Amino acid sequence: MIYILDTADLAAIKHCNEFYPLAGVTTNPSIIAKAKTDFWKLVKDIRAIIGEDKMLHVQTTQTKAEKIVEEAKLLKKELGGEFYVKIPIGEEGLKATMELHKLGIGVTMTAIFTPTQALMAAKAGADFVAPYVNRLDNIIGDGTEVVAEIVNQLEIYGMDCKVLAASFKNAEQVHKCASVGCHSVTVTDDIMKLLISHPMTDAAIQGFDKDWQGVYGEKTILDF
Ligand code: E4P
Repeated sequence: MIYILDTADLAAIKHCNEFYPLAGVTTNPSIIAKAKTDFWKLVKDIRAIIGEDKMLHVQTTQTKAEKIVEEAKLLKKELGGEFYVKIPIGEEGLKATMELHKLGIGVTMTAIFTPTQALMAAKAGADFVAPYVNRLDNIIGDGTEVVAEIVNQLEIYGMDCKVLAASFKNAEQVHKCASVGCHSVTVTDDIMKLLISHPMTDAAIQGFDKDWQGVYGEKTILDF
């Protein structure tokens, strides 16, 4: 499983980059707009925090293939390292993906809601396809079932493309995706924390501390 952070909040990125086995950061125009700041400064700050080796996925704002390619080249030049341009699925997006694949620029085809969209994106040369789990669940579309079908079809056809499941609202959705062999997920920092939280864990740790301190007080192993 590859864990990616779905935010442009620099404090959250710094925190998760330090404490979690983070593979990178994804953004989209809504996430960037929420920051209400200079675009280039924001994405370059994200790159500076995560470094060149981790993935940075930034979505194009263009709708025509030629312009998408132009924007992708500029983003790659400015942001360097492990970079993927996010392109919403559609005819223009597919055309751009085929061109970018030839140029060796990574593509994450986004706004995926069906296995047929995902398979076409993979065939065009997308490195990742991003199905929106919670948005499907919201319309009783069973997001994790769609993820499972995509994972299965990519395997059947031996496609060199990974599923980057997105749009999560709870840990159970992430767990279900992991159970069906989803390759990667992008989640908010809140969900990242939920993935390792459990009240029984807190109770267990409190018990260890209480028992130890009852005999040794504030002394730790390092003090013996
Ligand atoms: C990530 O690639 C998607 O853009 C994002 O996860 C969508 O999430 P939302 O449905 O919470 O907006």
